[in-house]
Amino acid sequence: MSYKEQIDTLKLPQHVAIIMDGNGRWAKGKGKLRVFGHHNGVISVRDVVEAAGEIGVKYLTLYTFSSENWNRPKFEVTAIMELLIGTINKEIAKLMENNVRLNTIGDINMLPTKAARELTEAIRKTSSNTGLTLTLALSYSSRREIVAAARQLAEKVQQGLLKAEDIDEQLFADNLYTADMPDPELLIRTSGEYRISNYMLWQIAYAELYFTSKLWPDFRREDFFEAIVDYQKRERRFGKTSEQVN
Ligand code: IPE
Ligand code: IPE
Ligand code: MG
Repeated sequence: MSYKEQIDTLKLPQHVAIIMDGNGRWAKGKGKLRVFGHHNGVISVRDVVEAAGEIGVKYLTLYTFSSENWNRPKFEVTAIMELLIGTINKEIAKLMENNVRLNTIGDINMLPTKAARELTEAIRKTSSNTGLTLTLALSYSSRREIVAAARQLAEKVQQGLLKAEDIDEQLFADNLYTADMPDPELLIRTSGEYRISNYMLWQIAYAELYFTSKLWPDFRREDFFEAIVDYQKRERRFGKTSEQVN
């Protein structure tokens, strides 16, 4: 039986987050430049977006470029930004066809003007789509997101619009970039690295973590379905006993 056939559509995670890692090593293994890996990574993105929409996942959030990634060699950063612009342009028709709503989280102001403009336009065009919400984390840092939320709340307190004692988990979450999304139930990281790299630290408090040694350009729809099947075998206890949740 294929992994897709093993999926219980009644127990799907609503939100899957992915740390797409390993493009550089994939290219290096083929004797090519790192940028070649990023180009091939886009094919995996397309595949996984379609797969997620197909089974009915509602939110897919892809770690596309971290705040820390700005520190990479200028050549690579420029190539990634150009790839982003080119890809959005090319994929918009497909997003419309698949009823995908595009969204971003992160410091979008940090992106080159052209990339920010293309993204804003694609977000506008796809805003009435009702299928999968595809969120690209771009120039994203979870700690910065948390600090920004704290600052916003502090300003409201300072202005007398809010009392400090009114700040609770829900209000805090409402001030994050992800305010209108449920927390991810499943976080996937490719490339054999076992770390979070400043991704959705608040939101993954109770996510199931799935690590695979596959490099991102090799990660395709069947791998995504395999991760979902693995997730569905787990018992999510949220601090309770096994007896309590069964
Ligand atoms: C992930 O692949 C893509 C980005 C971080 C932009 P990497 O570029 O990190 O590839 P490795 O980890 O060096 O192999
Ligand atoms: C995390 O990958 C960021 C993205 C996938 C966009 P990195 O390759 O930048 O993370 P580290 O450096 O291995 O922690
Ligand atoms: Mg990496």
